[in-house]
Amino acid sequence: MIVPGDLDDLKRVAQIDRSGMRELLLRFPEQLARAWQLSVSVPDFERLIVCGMGGSAVGGDYLRVYLTHKRFPKPVFVIRGYELPPFADANTLIFAVSYSGNTEETLSCVAEAVERDCHWAALTSDGRLAELARAHGAPIIQIPKGMPPRTALGYLFLPMLKSLQCFLDESAVETELTEALDALKKLAARYAEAPEAENPAERLAHAWHGHIPIIYGSHGLTDVVARRWKAQINENAEAPAFCNVVPELQHNELMGWEHEPHRELFVYTLLRDPDEHPQIKRRFELSRSFLEDQGSLVLEFSGEGEGLLARLLSLSYLGDWASFYLAILYARDPTPVPLIDTLKARLTQ
Ligand code: PA5
Repeated sequence: MIVPGDLDDLKRVAQIDRSGMRELLLRFPEQLARAWQLSVSVPDFERLIVCGMGGSAVGGDYLRVYLTHKRFPKPVFVIRGYELPPFADANTLIFAVSYSGNTEETLSCVAEAVERDCHWAALTSDGRLAELARAHGAPIIQIPKGMPPRTALGYLFLPMLKSLQCFLDESAVETELTEALDALKKLAARYAEAPEAENPAERLAHAWHGHIPIIYGSHGLTDVVARRWKAQINENAEAPAFCNVVPELQHNELMGWEHEPHRELFVYTLLRDPDEHPQIKRRFELSRSFLEDQGSLVLEFSGEGEGLLARLLSLSYLGDWASFYLAILYARDPTPVPLIDTLKARLTQ
């Protein structure tokens, strides 16, 4: 049984974190710096599609939000499935992203990309995807092997942004990245070492412990981080969690808030950002007061820094650490994902 303060006991944490997730989290800022060195050259294009699943799709989400927020004039889509949309053609740039290189949905999209003569590049550590790229002469962004995909967010996001930097204000992106790296280095020390009373990641894990975290983000901004936090809780802590998006959730989900038998079960976690639309700001504030009035626990977080990269990545990083500590509280080694592996193995039988 874990009691308050136990998360500060590094020996105890290491006994549960047998596969070394803490070390990977600590090295995340360093990963971002390395990832920024990787890119491929891309031709001009009319639309961009990122194909990937799970941990390998998340980088596409961050890319889409970043580009859209910077008013990038071409449409950006993230496809989590077996088929490309009908509009994918020779003027479409595709990043096929799979950490392992063996994810069947992504490989199926690549087969379609080849058939439709799309310009495509692979972002992978290995596997069939790397083989296909070599066979078809497609560029490969080769990332290091041996990590759980979800810990490789830097590698699965920044090389795509770097490859597209020539379409953006290059020096502004560099400045944002430098700010993000500085912010994350400071946060790494804080989340890893600060005692519980001063450690937001540990405190958040305690708040979630024994409850179901519900994470709300704002449309086109922190919704991607909410999805990431949910998935990190699922995979790291092997626990259920759900996410939704403001304003859509206020047209349906809020009707369930008053359902008395389940009130105690959930902890509502709101992910805020200074660039929220003014009405989204009001919607968050009203939601918070509705939920608190009925006695629900509501927590609120936003990213650190001025630039969008720092804000998104730092907020994301808090979720990485909080889900790691939640795994420790549930006495789960945060790294293995046995059920995902079993399902993939059964699908190939
Ligand atoms: O976190 C995970 O292990 C999964 O979500 C994987 O990322 C997902 O199954 C896709 O595999 P890959 O990232 O190797 O393409």
